[in-house]
Amino acid sequence: MPTIGIFDSGAGGLSVFREIYRTLPEAGYIYFADNAFCPYGDKPRDFIIFRARSITDFLLSQGADIIVVACNTATAASISTLREEYSSPDRSVPMREHILDLSAGRHDCVRFIGMEPAVKPAAMLTKTGVIGVLATAGTLSGQKYRRTRDVYSGEVEVVEHVGEGFVELVESGCVSGAVAEKTVRASLQPLLDAGADVIVLGCTHYPFLIDVIRQVAGPSVSVIDPAPAVAHHLVEVMQDEGLLHQPLPASPAFMPGSMSCCMPDGSSAAVHSFVPCDNILLCSSGSPDAVKRLFPVAFRKQSRPI
Ligand code: DGL
Repeated sequence: MPTIGIFDSGAGGLSVFREIYRTLPEAGYIYFADNAFCPYGDKPRDFIIFRARSITDFLLSQGADIIVVACNTATAASISTLREEYSSPDRSVPMREHILDLSAGRHDCVRFIGMEPAVKPAAMLTKTGVIGVLATAGTLSGQKYRRTRDVYSGEVEVVEHVGEGFVELVESGCVSGAVAEKTVRASLQPLLDAGADVIVLGCTHYPFLIDVIRQVAGPSVSVIDPAPAVAHHLVEVMQDEGLLHQPLPASPAFMPGSMSCCMPDGSSAAVHSFVPCDNILLCSSGSPDAVKRLFPVAFRKQSRPI
């Protein structure tokens, strides 16, 4: 089975990872949380592109065969650049050599799967004709989201709000209780007041707050997490690319080891890693605490326990 590289600004992408794992439990997984620079939400686009490149290089060097950008903000800022630089058919020879080098000759171009804001399914589901989107400022101002929204904004009204403080809550492990409820209500209430009966979670951290979001929104409001659709799309792409059937050199069982990745100042810094089971390597550029805390929460409901 191939090895799937997944990254996010922090532990939020674990909400996507768990859906992928549910579909492909036998694959190898390298998850990278860029905690040293979390949150990405209001960081400049160029900075996020720089981080996305460094993390892609790291994932390829550890054996990834395909990359999932499990972060709406990083998808909005960087996926077209990543596709152009690592996957374009007219890629320059130096980049091809770079990829061949990093992937130990396994690949000379790389496929990237990004997050899609689930505006289309929300538009099909709404009865009030109003859908609400919760996301980071970076995602809401990105071209990718705006284009999708504009396609549907003739048919339905789309109202948006930044999930203020949601990423920080999730990273600190505060996913229930009074503080979580107060924080969620402050950003969700304006969407409910506008008449939204479907809420799209446009940030991969937010599904960790889904119980609180459902409780504040009430039973007549549907909440959409796009992660299952992303997992489904990944499988389709892997099938098309022959990654599911073509025998690839078996990835060795992961072991924690000393690893490093490139920092914005050009230095390299240690990457924390741990291995909850032999086909999963969890890495983080900063403190590993959030990933260690949220991994069991994300994988608690797996049919194949880890
Ligand atoms: N989980 C991310 C997203 O999907 C990043 C949030 C952040 O770092 O601000 O947008």
